[in-house]
Amino acid sequence: MNSKEIRQKYLGFFEKRGHAVLPSTSLVPENDPSVLFNTAGMQPLVPYLLGEKHPLGTRLCSIQKCVRTIDLESVGDNTHATFFEMMGNWSLGDYFKKESINWSFELLTSKEEGFGIDPKRLYVTCFEGDKNAPKDEESAAIWKEIFDKHGVKGNRIFFLPEKNNWWSAGDNGPCGADTEIFYDITGKHTEGLTHEEYWTASEETQELVEIWNNVFMEFEKKDREIIGKLANKNVDTGAGFERFCLALNGKDNFYDTDIFEEIFAKIDAQHAELNPSPAQLQNPTALSEKEALRAKRIIADHVRTSVMLISDGVIPSNTDQGYILRRLLRRAVRFADNLGLKKGSLFWIADAVVNTYADIYENVARQRETIKITIDNEEQKFRNTLSHGLKEFDRIIKKLSSAEGAENKNSNEHLISGKDAFVLFSTYGFPVEMTIEMAGEIGFKVDKEAFEEEMKKHQDLSRSGAGQKFKGGMGDTSDISIKYHTATHLLHQALREVLGAHVSQKGSNITAERLRFDFAHTAKMTDEEKQQVEDIVNKRIADALPVNVVELPIEEAEKTGALHFFGEKYGDKVTLYYIGNTIEEAFSKEFCGGPHVKNASELGHFKIQKEEAVSAGVRRIKAVLE
Ligand code: SER
Repeated sequence: MNSKEIRQKYLGFFEKRGHAVLPSTSLVPENDPSVLFNTAGMQPLVPYLLGEKHPLGTRLCSIQKCVRTIDLESVGDNTHATFFEMMGNWSLGDYFKKESINWSFELLTSKEEGFGIDPKRLYVTCFEGDKNAPKDEESAAIWKEIFDKHGVKGNRIFFLPEKNNWWSAGDNGPCGADTEIFYDITGKHTEGLTHEEYWTASEETQELVEIWNNVFMEFEKKDREIIGKLANKNVDTGAGFERFCLALNGKDNFYDTDIFEEIFAKIDAQHAELNPSPAQLQNPTALSEKEALRAKRIIADHVRTSVMLISDGVIPSNTDQGYILRRLLRRAVRFADNLGLKKGSLFWIADAVVNTYADIYENVARQRETIKITIDNEEQKFRNTLSHGLKEFDRIIKKLSSAEGAENKNSNEHLISGKDAFVLFSTYGFPVEMTIEMAGEIGFKVDKEAFEEEMKKHQDLSRSGAGQKFKGGMGDTSDISIKYHTATHLLHQALREVLGAHVSQKGSNITAERLRFDFAHTAKMTDEEKQQVEDIVNKRIADALPVNVVELPIEEAEKTGALHFFGEKYGDKVTLYYIGNTIEEAFSKEFCGGPHVKNASELGHFKIQKEEAVSAGVRRIKAVLE
């Protein structure tokens, strides 16, 4: 059964049993600044699990996009991924343990209604009880009845402590005991297992894979402590989609499922023979088969996650979601180099990811080009500094390994200082986690705490200069000034693509001779970055993108993601200029009073003349149209 059929069957099964099918929400939670990403199917439903009435009723189901980066280092093994989808069904004070467990069993085993799994392959765990809640005899009894009814023999219900069979999304919110369903991927444990054998097979050999978690949410937690019972007895189940696909296709890892087929084919196709990367030239040792497989899986995983993040509006940057995206892409570049892929391969791998998800997520299909270009830009941007950064990394290691370094540092000769890690980050774009990983590969460590201190010093410095927001306007409305005004919008967006989404306008001034644009950014721009910005602007001019204007109510205008001054008071209606064919696909969108040219092709050739600092954290560009 392929992954598409699994999706349909899952949702169809619960829809038939009175559940409303919810679309997946964005990976970036809308109203919850405490988390960067949705990490579980239940996350968008927290208010309803806490008692709010859901408009679609008391039975819900969905396949929710999730990102978890906590296990980043484990990606590459059989069952860890940073992006995954979670199939879930919920009861909001409606049915409880009996229906929930019976339906899970039915969907898994029924040949007519479900997936037709042999029930002898199923094992389950239940909560053993503690000071907060009693032993979950009820779930165990339901399971026993089911197994007996289907003639499934042997010991297959295990009681485990809170660590294993109690679920909550974090330190706060709804929580409760759960029962977890495991699938025997080997098919050899047909007669039951002792507790010890179960433990080895699930934790060590991964012969038993957890495929479904049914949580019985009755309690609420605050700051890690149970503070009382919820208004309703709810059910929250979650089944990892990729793991389901693995189990139902008789695979032992999910990279061998049809989800990754096209993505892996593309990675293989991108294998370089004639185009060795800088990393290979420096380190021509070929990877072992095992290392090569791990590298491929890491690339596949990281590009897949990046595509999904970008489709939900995340842009590479140095903070929050954007930083995670940057880390993933840069790590993918490093492993692509280790594997010997052609430069620019991520662009093509991203294309395969888009193909894989185009039928399922409309925003992936619609933004195919934006996604690929964003990924390619980030790869190029990193490559501009990567080889110099690798040299700097080697220099640091040599320094530390030399007698002199060892003498100075005493027992710390294997510790990269916070300052060095910060230089690698700020000048060469190495996310600190990457430096730590590279250091670890050769037996070195990084002084992470000192690195954080360096970061903080640097942020304080940039903040002190960022307060002076001033909004320059247009001096006059001559034709040439109008052109410069439109060019300023293109420049603003190009800077965000090349340097990151932290770039925001701090001022603008236009004369008949040039434009001047001040923006938040800390580092001096490299020649390559300037070149990229110019290229992006000139490409939009060459594409002859139309310049459009609409008037929208402020809420609607904000929803388009158009740039504006945060904290600024706008009227109920605002004018929005966008450069592109449609507002969704526009290259640039800004709240602005105009005027602008009708088409980008009127601008001629755009050239940056100067880039300099105005104050801490603010850079200035002067540019001309030729
Ligand atoms: N919230 C539970 C989990 O994520 C079940 O959906 O495992």
